[in-house]
Amino acid sequence: MIILAIESSCDETSVAILKGEREILAHVLVSQIDIFKSFGGVVPEMASRNHVSVITKLIDEALNQANIQPSELSFVAVTKGPGLIGSLLVGINAATAFAYAHHIPVIGVNHLAGHIYSANLVQPFEFPLLALLVSGGHTELIYMHDHMSFKIIGETLDDAVGEAYDKVAKMLGLGYPGGPLIDQKAFLGKDTYQLPRPKLESHGLNFSFSGLKSAVANIVGKEREKIDVNNMCTSFQSAVMDVIQYKLEKTYETYDVKQTIIVGGVAANKGLRMMLEKQFSSKNIIVPPLNYCTDNAVMIAAAAYHQYRLNPNFKDYILGGQANLSLD
Ligand code: KG4
Ligand code: ZN
Repeated sequence: MIILAIESSCDETSVAILKGEREILAHVLVSQIDIFKSFGGVVPEMASRNHVSVITKLIDEALNQANIQPSELSFVAVTKGPGLIGSLLVGINAATAFAYAHHIPVIGVNHLAGHIYSANLVQPFEFPLLALLVSGGHTELIYMHDHMSFKIIGETLDDAVGEAYDKVAKMLGLGYPGGPLIDQKAFLGKDTYQLPRPKLESHGLNFSFSGLKSAVANIVGKEREKIDVNNMCTSFQSAVMDVIQYKLEKTYETYDVKQTIIVGGVAANKGLRMMLEKQFSSKNIIVPPLNYCTDNAVMIAAAAYHQYRLNPNFKDYILGGQANLSLD
């Protein structure tokens, strides 16, 4: 099975070609992060236009890199959501037009399933499995007893972790995206600010980050000139890590899992990786390499492989057709 996958749900345009379950034949990506730095965040209309200007070139580049003809592809996989609607439509339209021209089917893949399957590229899943998905839009604990079976056992009641990172970075006058910048500065300071650790005892495995974000906003509002940015980054990151550690410990009290995967943009966080190594060394924890944590098309292809394998009748197809398939 050879899959061409397209991801364009936010500000990264990416195309990948995957052979079988995890052989990456091509991976190309254009990020708009530099464009949005001066805006302090993604401007959806600009993001859509920028996707349009690069997407066909990236499809050609991926085919060249893989040395593959379109006729050799089994199908096209494209992120169908969640994401910015204008950005998603660019990917979906490009995927559909390309597939129509080459008489191959298209299947729509959930972006979050994609993030989860980024870990299966590194090491085969062992079930039951716990996924901690931490991105700009989502914070979820997901229990999987088998491939493509997702049970959400905890989620954020307000801000996602990545969103809290980005908003705190903005308050501190750091750039966009805030996560990596806070992560860097967190290693230069000390945990001096008394920030809350919202553990939500009565809310089971759910998270809340808005109180922590507001606590930073209050201190910044009162002491703007005196703020020690490095110390605030250290304090914020250590509060976030305490909450994540606590929720993982709680999860392990109830769920006996063979593997834990940490996925999504915030999985790139060095403080998180260090905390996991220190506190959960006895657990089988998989964190994908940095370039597969943030948005990319390889993870979409990786999820599509199992989505198709389990449902070859294409319940999720966008464009039908006779698939050219074998499972190797
Ligand atoms: O998964 P992703 O690329 O896009 C979404 O689907 O949301 O995640 C982007 C998020 C942003 O909020 C960004 O600040 C955060 O991931 N992020 C980080 C780090 N690298 C990216 N957060 C904390 N530490 C990092 N090193
Ligand atoms: Zn994402």
